[in-house]
Amino acid sequence: MSDSIESQSHETRHFAPTAEFAAAALAKPEIYERAKSDRLGFWAEQAKHLHWHKPFTKTLDWSEAPVAKWFEDGELNVSYNCLDRHVIAGNGDRIAIHFEGEPGDSKSYTYAELTAEVKRAANVLTSLGIERGDRVAIYLPMIAEAVISMLAVARIGAVHSVIFGGFSADSLATRIQDAQAKLVITADGGYRKGKASALKPAVDEALKDNNCPTIENVLVVKRTGDEVVWTPKDIWWSDAMANAEAEHEAKAFPAENPLFILYTSGTTGKPKGILHTSGGYLTQAAYTHRNVFDLRPETDIYWCTADVGWITGHTYVAYGPLANGATQVIYEGTPDAPHPGRWWEVIEKYKVTLLYTAPTAIRSFMKLGREIPDKFDLSSLRVLGSVGEPINPEAWMWYREVIGGNRAPIVDTWWQTETGAIMISPLPGITDTKPGSAQVPLPGIVAKVVGEDGVELGNEQGGYLTIAEPWPSMLRGIWGDPERFKETYWERFDGQYFAGDGAKKDHDGDIWLLGRVDDVMNVSGHRLSTAEIESALVSHPWVAEAAVVGASDALTGQAVVAFVILRLDQVEAAGSDSDVSRVLRDHVAKEIGPIAKPRQIMVVAELPKTRSGKIMRRLLRDVAEDRPIGDVTTLADTTVMNIISGKIAAGAND
Ligand code: PRX
Repeated sequence: MSDSIESQSHETRHFAPTAEFAAAALAKPEIYERAKSDRLGFWAEQAKHLHWHKPFTKTLDWSEAPVAKWFEDGELNVSYNCLDRHVIAGNGDRIAIHFEGEPGDSKSYTYAELTAEVKRAANVLTSLGIERGDRVAIYLPMIAEAVISMLAVARIGAVHSVIFGGFSADSLATRIQDAQAKLVITADGGYRKGKASALKPAVDEALKDNNCPTIENVLVVKRTGDEVVWTPKDIWWSDAMANAEAEHEAKAFPAENPLFILYTSGTTGKPKGILHTSGGYLTQAAYTHRNVFDLRPETDIYWCTADVGWITGHTYVAYGPLANGATQVIYEGTPDAPHPGRWWEVIEKYKVTLLYTAPTAIRSFMKLGREIPDKFDLSSLRVLGSVGEPINPEAWMWYREVIGGNRAPIVDTWWQTETGAIMISPLPGITDTKPGSAQVPLPGIVAKVVGEDGVELGNEQGGYLTIAEPWPSMLRGIWGDPERFKETYWERFDGQYFAGDGAKKDHDGDIWLLGRVDDVMNVSGHRLSTAEIESALVSHPWVAEAAVVGASDALTGQAVVAFVILRLDQVEAAGSDSDVSRVLRDHVAKEIGPIAKPRQIMVVAELPKTRSGKIMRRLLRDVAEDRPIGDVTTLADTTVMNIISGKIAAGAND
């Protein structure tokens, strides 16, 4: 992927906003100047869009860098900001959520109704002994209860840790243990790919044999109605809600009260619990959602297709849109069930105006052909967003022409779990957009492309992306591991935040993201760690050693390709290479989740290593991408690559 991006960074196509769009846009060009001339004053202004129970007087305390404190002496309630205040302002009848289930059932919640649900849910949590600061694990499908649970946890000052429903029981258990959660909120199951898919068994498996001793209760939402095994800790969500008090007053908490932990893959085998707090996070979530999507809460219908299990679902499903009083669609299922035009049908049904999705989805629609979206009325769309991975210019152009009718501007938004909210993106009424480039830091953000020495590079030189000044929604640490926080992000380029991405500015000074420069892969916009998959592979009794690389893939951006060496005494038991591949792919799905399944597993006799024993993944990537093998002079044994590529060429692993 990075090669094609590299060659495209001389892109000359530009698409200016229409005069009409520019004239009506919320953000005007002066916003950049305003933010530059007084950055902290600019952020304080943004924070004042929120309701503060106690106003802040200090904007930023950076004296304990790299741990920032934003709006520290202010107090607010995140849930109140997303709900009650809209009702108090007279917008209680506005739809907050149009929930659309995969099988076609739907339910809409006004702001008044959503507030009432969250108040009850907050009372349920309190009745189960959840207090400020306690951690609550949320393992749900994409249903309204996922958002209701998050807001209820936030409302009482507790901390949620949402775990994507596609993660396995083992991954769930590790995250519960690391966060020491007291409660899990789950469902019997959800609908995916045209059928009910169970969730509760994974929770039962994660908790069995007192494996997660901190968990006191499990709240279970009934979604599919399928039979579930009941344990003494289980409580039906509907029973608890029916018995709960309706009224709940939102108390104010300090701006730096922890809001959530979200686990993400790093360069080691152990996922990192990224910690976000309240006031700064919500400020930037709301600011970016408003300006990047040019949001008109009275008229827009917004739809972000991300699952709440990822950061995009936190900031641009739960917090940003609701803080702004927007109306949004939440869709439960997969894009192609029960038919390949399902997404376009949803857009037509709700007259969606703002769409936020990932390049991998766009590429898979492109593959199916424009006949499918052409059958639906997509003329309501007025801004299109992209997130999660670099968008290749072909997919960008298709998105613009076929989905956006050559009319709706595209905002390619770069950010990360750690940054909490969008950092680099065009502003749709201001920027001339360019296929494939995220382009410019948002007003208030200072991003740089630097060389190995941390010094900023000029245009057309490849380097590393850093953020040079603190920002409100930045992570406040890694849960339980302050040292790792400093080492991972702050030590490589002294005092600058290192994002782990390669980047380059083109001849116009626009930023192009060139992919990860560490051992993190990006598969369909999902972040996966090579080390995590390697340790899953070697946990299988057949495997002596494993090396994993992210290889370019036309559909998913990158794909996981694994090379394994079998234990000598297991070769016979393991059987043919294709048996090994099947068994190990399933093993990875069980250990981590189906998203981490390697596309391909190659059984090899040796791995290419340097004299100091480091695996040379660069060479394995050459094999996986079917390229001539690069420079092998630093290999301890230069014949290894001939043996590996010879075996692959002979088709032994097909
Ligand atoms: O490599 C970048 C890529 O996704 C990584 C962050 O992944 P995650 O924390 O899971 O968050 C994804 C959703 C915000 C980044 O380090 N990435 C994200 N957006 C873009 C991107 N790469 C290029 N262009 C983007 N727009």
